[in-house]
Amino acid sequence: MPHPDPSRRQFLAFLAASPLAAAEGIDPDWLAALGARAPRREDPLLEVAHRLAAAQDTLPPGAIRSAAEALNVFDFEPVAKARVPVAHWGYLMTGSDDDRTIAANRAGFDRWALRPRRLVDVSTIDMGVTHYGTRYPTPIILNPVGSQKAFHPDGELATARAARARNHLFVLSTVGTTAIEDVIAARGAPAWFQLYHQDDWALTRQVMQRMERAGVPAIVFTVDLLGGSNRETQQREARRDTRTCTKCHLGGEPKPGMTQVSQRDNRRKPNLNGYQALPPIMEKGTPTWEFVDRLRQSTTMKVLLKGIVTREDAELAVAHGIDGLFVSNHGGRAENSLRATVTSLPEVLEGAAGRIPVICDGGFRRGTDAFKALALGATAIGVGRPYIWGLGAFGQEGVEAVLGLLRKELEIVMKQCGTPTLAAITRRHITEA
Ligand SMILES: Cc1cc2nc3c(=O)[nH]c(=O)nc-3n(C[C@H](O)[C@H](O)[C@H](O)COP(=O)(O)O)c2cc1C
Repeated sequence: MPHPDPSRRQFLAFLAASPLAAAEGIDPDWLAALGARAPRREDPLLEVAHRLAAAQDTLPPGAIRSAAEALNVFDFEPVAKARVPVAHWGYLMTGSDDDRTIAANRAGFDRWALRPRRLVDVSTIDMGVTHYGTRYPTPIILNPVGSQKAFHPDGELATARAARARNHLFVLSTVGTTAIEDVIAARGAPAWFQLYHQDDWALTRQVMQRMERAGVPAIVFTVDLLGGSNRETQQREARRDTRTCTKCHLGGEPKPGMTQVSQRDNRRKPNLNGYQALPPIMEKGTPTWEFVDRLRQSTTMKVLLKGIVTREDAELAVAHGIDGLFVSNHGGRAENSLRATVTSLPEVLEGAAGRIPVICDGGFRRGTDAFKALALGATAIGVGRPYIWGLGAFGQEGVEAVLGLLRKELEIVMKQCGTPTLAAITRRHITEA
């Protein structure tokens, strides 16, 4: 009988103390007892090795191992969390101040209950919607989310390919890590572009002209961050990240001939790159309706505003010739308003008075959430974090699976409520809970 091997015992003690064993649900006492025993021919150490190899990475217990296993969009979150660097996770999950508007967005849906109607033929469901002449088979929009290569190496390309596979509308962010031309090629159809204005109007105008050349049909000007936001979760998580951030951020290595990376170096933001150095036309102050007019007049593309949450601003948007609105609080990342977007939606719809489409985003995680917003009168709904969980967890496959789940859930609730088309979904299909 061979004697217990001290290095084997040491290794098992190390394993017993490691978070990997805990995450895989391997009992540390069992591992310690194993170390004290002499090895047998069929060493349980092999079993440990197999179980750890199968785990591939340190996924928490119960986490899904493939996109196909997911039952709902929440299943992707722990997998993405395990796979996305902690600072980037902080960027994804942060709200503003104490993040309570993120929760408010979710709670807003609980204020509404369904009023399902029976005995309607729902054997065929058509959830198609037309945006400015282009038909999409679903009202679920992939909202603009910046820096998607922070979540998966394929970044926006994976999202665009998933949007192509499932035929969803994708809105590319100004601060995306993929150029609009590459996104449109991967999507195989036009994408919309979300605009953050630049301090220099000459640059903003060049960005707009590039979008026109690329065939972008609509610009979504985001107006809910013009005063900045206080993102504590993001900062806290960034402090826990021990990697050298400047290796990637601020363009990585300094440009040739420079000793330092400049704050204005936008190499990782290809939609803000490669423009002519024209004489600058600096903005005076932060944008107002005067800027909106200028933007509107400078382009033939449709112009939407994202971040409108009041009747008054919806009325002003219509008066200023705006083509559509996103009711949005930036996923709880703008001001910590504590007001759900689905709660703001009715007054924005009143302000718009049916003259322009109104899209709603913020906290949509279930088909029933989408149904409630559609019943209140939204034209379509946008998702942010859920598809990024899919992206961070499994790349394009994950994004596709998230879209598939949301669509399946919406289809079920449409059938259950006796509403075979979006037009059939009315205010009478929901009631205050
Ligand atoms: C990580 C992250 C980055 C975002 N980047 C942008 C952006 O660049 N432009 C923009 O208009 N909105 C941006 N948003 C807001 C989303 O478009 C959307 O309003 C929000 O995510 C919807 O809420 P949800 O995440 O609860 O679905 C971002 C949101 C997140 C979570």
